[in-house]
Amino acid sequence: MKIVHISAECFPIAKIGGLADVVGSLPKYQNELGANSAVIMPFYKVPFSDNQEFDVILKDTLALGHNYHQFRILKLKNSTLGFELFCVDIPGLLDKEYVYSENDTERFLAFQIATLDWIITLKEKPTIIHIHDHHTGLTPFMITQSFKYSKLKNIPTILTIHNAQYQGWFSHEKSHLIPPFNYDNVGLLDWDGSINPLATAIKCAWKVTTVSPSYMNELKKNANGLEQLLSSESKKCVGILNGIDWSVWNTETDIKLEKNYTKNTVISGKKVHKKILCNQFKLNTKKPLFVFIGRLVGEKGADLFPEIFTKALEENDISILLLGSGHKEIEIALSKITNNNYNNYIGYSENLAHTMYAGADFILMPSRVEPCGLNQMYALRYGTVPIVNEIGGLKDTVTDIDKNNGFGITHKGVTIHKVVDAIKRASIFYKDTDKFRKNQKQIMTINNSWTNSAKEYLSLYKSLIN
Ligand code: GLC
Repeated sequence: MKIVHISAECFPIAKIGGLADVVGSLPKYQNELGANSAVIMPFYKVPFSDNQEFDVILKDTLALGHNYHQFRILKLKNSTLGFELFCVDIPGLLDKEYVYSENDTERFLAFQIATLDWIITLKEKPTIIHIHDHHTGLTPFMITQSFKYSKLKNIPTILTIHNAQYQGWFSHEKSHLIPPFNYDNVGLLDWDGSINPLATAIKCAWKVTTVSPSYMNELKKNANGLEQLLSSESKKCVGILNGIDWSVWNTETDIKLEKNYTKNTVISGKKVHKKILCNQFKLNTKKPLFVFIGRLVGEKGADLFPEIFTKALEENDISILLLGSGHKEIEIALSKITNNNYNNYIGYSENLAHTMYAGADFILMPSRVEPCGLNQMYALRYGTVPIVNEIGGLKDTVTDIDKNNGFGITHKGVTIHKVVDAIKRASIFYKDTDKFRKNQKQIMTINNSWTNSAKEYLSLYKSLIN
């Protein structure tokens, strides 16, 4: 079975969020199960592209409305990623140092057109086309409606929604950018008066998946305007929980760690990393360390962090360390926290993130929306206890310590009071040293790898063939 994943992000080439982690690992696991799964993504001007060799496998010109753009399809030479990687190079449009920007409608449309212009030339066409989020959401429409791609129209398409908050809206005035299509079906592009690539993908893809079962249910009530559409298309929708890349996120082999550790050496292993963090960020190693890693946006509950942190630090004997960036107001409010037991790193560093998973005692994830969430799974694998709002994938992967077989701290809803209360429960838990240490060992063995979910995707694909 030949599968092509079309995505704006893919780890380790270009990562903004969890989308990259998923696209950079699911294909590898699919290949381990005997599939032939590849990724096609834009060729950005990122360090990865400079340091690798590519073969040029196609040079052509694409039409974006009345404008013509030259493009090349590049294939990574000697890929060690576990899958074949193809990149679309469109000078002037995609070759930027960033993934997202203002003219994304044109950039990602051109990317999708180049991708289909290439796929149509292939002798052996893909068995399945799997698209991710709104950036690639017009692909199923073009395959079924644009005349030039009619030869592809029997290829099953799958949309995975990683986050329904973002839908890629643009005005109908730009519909001429889409290769000429059957205008009787222009309604497929529309949702509430604009062209909505995510809605279009939900309508046109053969199957729609979300990255956790709970998120699928939540979307019927809260999908940034697409609730009704998702309810009416619910028959073709299914929630499949993301996994994590077991080989990248492995305390025994992680080269980003100062000292590798196993579940039997977790206490000394975590101590080394906690010390590194506390030295670097001037925190006290004796106190339980709570961390946050991620984007500073309302979805993650980050607007409440300045108040939550201030209150939690006043009421408990703890330290807090944050890694992330996002809304400027939040960054500024965080910089005004004067408590000595708080520090932050505004920006992103994959190395620091790994050290934090290893060195922290708890990770905070008070997300208001969390389609799956990967950080809680990375944390568990590194022996760090997640404190999460019971929503989406967080609900599907973390059980509260007060419940049967519980191992994390959960709260229902995101308010300053609820999160501070959860932090208090965590610091009480920490004081019960035996219980806390036993739990650290146990959570490291919870299997959140891709193996099961990769199989679920393959059986979903199989259900669409013939
Ligand atoms: C998005 C979601 C996150 C999910 C990730 C990968 O970033 O916000 O919850 O884990 O995609 O699917």
